Amino acid sequence: SYFKGVWNIVNNIPFLYVLTFRSHLIDSPPTYNVHYGYKNWEAFSNLSYYTRALPPVADDCPTPMGVKGKKELSDSKEVFENVLLRRKFLPDPQGTNMMFAFFAQHFTHQILKSDRNPGPAFTTGLGHRLYLSHVYGETLDRQHKLRLFKDRKLKYQVIDGEVYPPIVKDTQVEMIYPPHVPEHLQFAVGQKVFGLVPGLMMYATIWLQEHNRVCDVLKQEHPEWDDEWLFQTSRLILIGETIKIVIEDYVQHLNGYHFKLKFDPELLFNQQFQYQNHISSEFNTLYHWHPLLPDTFQIHDQEYNYQQFIYNNSILLKHGLTQFVEQIAGSVFGGRNVPSPVQAVAKASIDHSRNMKYQCFNDYHKCFNLKPYKLFEELTGEKEMAAELEALYCDIDALEFYPAFLVEKLLGNPMCSPHYWKPSTFGGEEGFKIINTASIQSLICRNVKGCPFDPLLTKTVTINASTSHSRLEDINSTVLLKGHSTEL
Ligand code: HEM
Ligand SMILES: *[C@@H]1O[C@H](CO)[C@@H](O)[C@H](O)[C@H]1NC(C)=O
Ligand SMILES: *[C@@H]1O[C@H](CO)[C@@H](O)[C@H](O)[C@H]1NC(C)=O
Repeated sequence: SYFKGVWNIVNNIPFLYVLTFRSHLIDSPPTYNVHYGYKNWEAFSNLSYYTRALPPVADDCPTPMGVKGKKELSDSKEVFENVLLRRKFLPDPQGTNMMFAFFAQHFTHQILKSDRNPGPAFTTGLGHRLYLSHVYGETLDRQHKLRLFKDRKLKYQVIDGEVYPPIVKDTQVEMIYPPHVPEHLQFAVGQKVFGLVPGLMMYATIWLQEHNRVCDVLKQEHPEWDDEWLFQTSRLILIGETIKIVIEDYVQHLNGYHFKLKFDPELLFNQQFQYQNHISSEFNTLYHWHPLLPDTFQIHDQEYNYQQFIYNNSILLKHGLTQFVEQIAGSVFGGRNVPSPVQAVAKASIDHSRNMKYQCFNDYHKCFNLKPYKLFEELTGEKEMAAELEALYCDIDALEFYPAFLVEKLLGNPMCSPHYWKPSTFGGEEGFKIINTASIQSLICRNVKGCPFDPLLTKTVTINASTSHSRLEDINSTVLLKGHSTEL
């Protein structure tokens, strides 16, 4: 994050590519899952399981974390209250805004879709990759219900001159809404949980608009294509746009480094590279970024508490689609920043991790060639939470994955194969150009009235120098980069 000039030079050399960086550290093909700590066909082939970066702790180990630590772990409620619960809102030091938070939530919920029954080790996202199931649905049946089959478009409705998703009644797709939500506000989209938060529905609306816009562009280029062809090619273009935006805007922003990330599949054409993926359970757990959430949601001069905010699509109608730009998000890292309204979610993350027998945080550090911590203070960079953690866990090698991940000091697809990555896949140069020029800024500005300047940042950015050290030492690593890039 220093020496911008040097990085400007580095960035002009086209040899560094995030995906190849650390990908050798992830087992591919996948190996273990919650039920199998050894390699076997079931663990490899059964896509209902999330895979595992590390096998579960064996049942006959002397302690829950293996050999170190207490015979019985401290109560998860106590862990939550002592080191994860927010005391005072801690803003993100990079100035990340709520637009970013909802992008993270929206983007990840196309692949992180746990199956409540049978439980957290299982997923309903059987494709294990980015194919915009949150826009088009997981199944063909759902996709068909969301399609207009006329004009190659997705179903939509117009309210006050703005395009919104159709309602549940007009699509017959399953969505989760509590009974008090009126019928005309029960919007229907690809992911059934997206009624939960207006920020999710905002992105769902923007992508729906983008799909229909891209269809119009392709129709111009290819008047001879039928509905299906236009629809399918638009979808490929949107997948390409998503990857481009995620790498060059989103991961770039997370990164906070001057090193510029680039989406260029051609760089990989000559490498041994498999276009397959299997989402891991740990990836889901570490993506529980609920500390991003504020105490209350501030839109213009209006304030919404959680009760007023969730399952309330009328907020979109009232304030429009880009109203989450102004509010700063919370800091994911550094500890004690999970707001109390979502405390049950954070406690469940700990309970689920125990249930799935995750190994300790240091084991994950070692697995990714990072130095294991020797002292709690080394992990937290301060004394108070370090002491709490020491009391809770006794031994640093018994410290659990999720609390450690949040408390740690701060840190700053087949479509990409040579057969696909060329203009003809995307309907010619015009379609290919849409992908290669995609950015979150243009995505929003092309579709929505009222265009924010830098959509992922609040206007005032305050960098807190004292909090931005340490993880930077592990630079070409960071759990985040690793999480995003390799899973991608
Ligand atoms: C007001 C905003 C939010 C609310 C009310 C909320 C609430 C929830 C709830 C109730 C769950 C289910 C927990 C469980 O089944 O154990 C969940 C899961 C999750 N949340 Fe959030 N959340 C919010 C924002 C976010 C944000 C901004 C992120 C950022 C990445 C995020 C990431 C996740 C992830 C990755 C899961 C796991 C999904 C799965 O396994 O299916 N959430 N959240
Ligand atoms: C995957 O494993 C689960 C749990 O054992 C089982 O219920 C399910 O039927 C398996 N799926 C397939 C496709 O074999
Ligand atoms: C939902 O938002 C609208 C628009 O701001 C507001 O008037 C209403 O009170 C909210 N609903 C609930 C249940 O709080």
